[in-house]
Amino acid sequence: MNSEIILKESKIRKLVKKKYNGTMAPYTSEIKLIENYIYTTKLNMDIDILKSSCDKMYEIVKENFSKNKKDYTGQSTMTTQLYSSYNLFLYPLPEFDKLFKEIRSIFFSLNALNTNGQPENIQYYMQCWLNYYNKGDFIDWHSHWSPEKKTWHGFFCLDCEPSFTSYKIPSKREIINVTSEKNLIVISKSDGDKHKSSEWLDESRPRITIAFDIVPMEFIDSSVYWLNHWIPL
Ligand SMILES: [Fe+2]
Repeated sequence: MNSEIILKESKIRKLVKKKYNGTMAPYTSEIKLIENYIYTTKLNMDIDILKSSCDKMYEIVKENFSKNKKDYTGQSTMTTQLYSSYNLFLYPLPEFDKLFKEIRSIFFSLNALNTNGQPENIQYYMQCWLNYYNKGDFIDWHSHWSPEKKTWHGFFCLDCEPSFTSYKIPSKREIINVTSEKNLIVISKSDGDKHKSSEWLDESRPRITIAFDIVPMEFIDSSVYWLNHWIPL
């Protein structure tokens, strides 16, 4: 049994107001905290519109970035492996702008909760990519950034039922499974966890999630990116 806490709107609003002096709209929907590590919340995105934007994005990545690359079937997806070649939110496709603003708002609210509303002088940047799983695809155990970099990682569940994402977190021996639901955002600090997705078994449609890392500017080595894919929050 996993421990779950519901974070009250009033607490989030108070802390965000304290930190941002009311200049940034706080995220005011209910947020669930699992095992004091993983936050989840539901959005109200138009799934059909977003799905057709992601289908288009899949074609864009395939056409522009996958040439001469191997077949990615198995332990990742093509659009995942090529994450550093693009940023999904830089493509003007319907609903991407709205999702970006929602994620930014959630992040600033959670970050304010984590710093207890204390000001910090950090400029955060985001990389964002598409996970587009065909039948048999899954993403195996992996971690993102090391804890001292103070980064966050998350994903938005667009069309991924039935499936789940498994987490190994430092404070718990058992594996935590987060069940996929349409319109669910799952986000946590990259604080020593590993995670993996379950294998996608449906042949009739792809499993689609949109994933992102949020990283302080000082830890991004811009010299290795000849074409920047980071966007400021
Ligand atoms: Fe990941």
